Order: sequence, then C-alpha cells, then structure tokens
Amino acid sequence: MQPRCSDTIIRLDIEADLLSNVLLEMEPDGVVVVCDTHTRELCLPHLLSRLGSYTPEVITIEPGEQNKSLETISLLWDRFYHLNLSRKTVVILLGGGSLLDIGGFAASTFKRGMPCINVPTTILAAVDAAVGGKRGFNFNETKNIIGSFYPSSYVGLDPGFFRTLPLTEKLSGWAEILKHALLEPDRKALIELLKEDRQPETLSLQEWGNLISRSIRTKQRIVEEDPYENGVRQMLNLGHTFGHAVEADMLHNRKKELPHGFAVAAGIIMELYLSFKLLGFPQELLTKVCYYIRDTYPVVPFNCKAYNTLIAYMEQDKKNRGKVISAALLKDIGLYAYGTPLSPTLCKEAMDFYRDLYNT
Ligand code: GLY
Repeated sequence: MQPRCSDTIIRLDIEADLLSNVLLEMEPDGVVVVCDTHTRELCLPHLLSRLGSYTPEVITIEPGEQNKSLETISLLWDRFYHLNLSRKTVVILLGGGSLLDIGGFAASTFKRGMPCINVPTTILAAVDAAVGGKRGFNFNETKNIIGSFYPSSYVGLDPGFFRTLPLTEKLSGWAEILKHALLEPDRKALIELLKEDRQPETLSLQEWGNLISRSIRTKQRIVEEDPYENGVRQMLNLGHTFGHAVEADMLHNRKKELPHGFAVAAGIIMELYLSFKLLGFPQELLTKVCYYIRDTYPVVPFNCKAYNTLIAYMEQDKKNRGKVISAALLKDIGLYAYGTPLSPTLCKEAMDFYRDLYNT
C-alpha cells in the first residue's frame, strides 16, 4: 500500500482510468463505498464505471446535516465491523460535505484508520470538505465539535457530478469559492468572480472544473502551511464565526436547514464589516463584496431578539480562546488577521450592518 499522502487531486473528468489506476497502486484487500440515498441513485453508477475490476461493498446512510451524528457514526462502525474491513481496505466516500466529514471520521477511527478517497458530489464539498482532512460530526447543537484531522489519500474530482445540482447548491459552493478568492493576495481571482458574465448559473462544467481546481489550490496552500489549524488555517474560517451561528440558529430554533454557503455568505458580510471597522479593510471592496452577496443570496432572517442566541453559539466556536469570541478577519484582500477578539457589542453592530444592508 502506498503511504498516505495528503489529498492528492485527481481529475476524473480528464482521465477516465485514473481512479482504477490509483486503486491498483494502493493494492487494497477490498474497496467499500460509503454513499447516501441521493448519491447512491445519482452518482454511484458513474463511480462504479470508473473502478475497473474492483467491485466494492456499498454502505448507504441517510443524507443531511441532521444525520451528522454519533448515531450515524455508530451505524458505520457496525457495518465496517460486520464486513470485517481491515486497514488495507480503501474507503471511497461519495457525497457532499456531511458525508465526507462523517464517513471520514468513522473510517479514521475504525481499527485506527483505513485509507480514504474523497469523491465530492457537490461544489461545496469539492472546494472545502474534500481537502484538508477535517472529519467530524455535530454534538449538542454545535456543528463539527467532535472531530479529527485525517486527510484522504486522493480526492477524485469529477465536475460531471455537479451537472444535476440545483442552483441553490451551486450558490452554496460559490460562497466558499468567494471566501477563497478573498484569501488570495492578488485581486485577480476576486475580480473574476464578481464579473457579471461569470455567474454560477452560466458556467460550463469545464469552467466549473477549472474554477474549483483553482479554489482548491488556495485551500491547499493554507492547509500545507498549517495543517492542524494553530494559526493561518483559521483564515479558512472567514465568514464562519457568524455563518455557523446563523446556521445553527436556523436549524435548532427555526427547524430549517440553511445551505451552508448561504450562511457563510451572510457571515462574510458581517466579518468584512468588522474587518473594515477594526482593521481598515478597504471600504470600496467591502461595498463591492457586500452588494454582490446581497444581490446574489437571499436574506438570512433574524432580528435583534436573536442576537444573544447567535452570540451564545459564537461563544462555542472552536477558534475561541477561553470565552472570548475570536474571528478570522482581513486587513485587506489576502492580508490575514486571525485571532481577532470580538466583544458582544461589536458582534451586535455587525448584525445590525447585515440587517441594514438587506433592509430588514
Ligand atoms: N473548512 C475549513 C478548514 O478546512 O479549515
């Protein structure tokens, strides 16, 4: 078996035999695919056609954030146990971010770890969860609070899987691509994204493939510098301090699943506002990005009565030191200020800014 390397990207759309060749090199004693009820129907047949002579066992779990739980992990361990998988069995994870997180966590802990290949089936998962090795699940209403770092051996990227994604899903992934563009020191990536003729609904699959590959490179650059998030990797959480809070509030208090990228887009507005206020982030860029998000993403509804609840969620953020909320902000595009402390008063001001922008 090849030693486990970190998220080597293989473009399955460019070379059809790549996945079966990679499996041959890995010399597994078996292959298992973990998918969910959606990806089993929409993506599994295509994946199976790429596996050459390998006939995998298939394990299907329920999709969605609600199932990103200890119960699902336990169910996966139970299936791994009864299939008597070994540390030489390759686990192919076929799905969106939740499936990659949860399936990867189960695989990383069973018999102390089986090699994984991530095959993301959403744009969001391709640019975020598939790379960087974060695995985990939700616990006590807090997203991803139990987890580990366990990179995949390979990431199989096939934009063909994105063909059937609804616009909501495309927009969700677009928000993470926008976040990565803000983390690039050179403005080119951001300017390209904000162009009117380059919008999620108009891109061809090839354009998506290239855009996603570029976005992944930004993430890989940062993860390579700081794989365990002691410093600069916190920047990948731009938009997520507020984003995770509004997402949790929607899920637990309003019983609605907000697409992750929509929450991140809202979070980017609030965090760029604070970047401007505290660190002198350029106003013209703040305005440009905020108007773009406002015109592209629907409002995330919350009023001032929800502020303290949102702050309570932010106080659980993994980036915090003690009880102080700590955010990953920007002095300018590509100029990082992670570990910026935020008081509840500042957080409320940023929420006011968001609501004023959307006029709610
Ligand atoms: N999703 C942020 C990271 O992987 O660090």
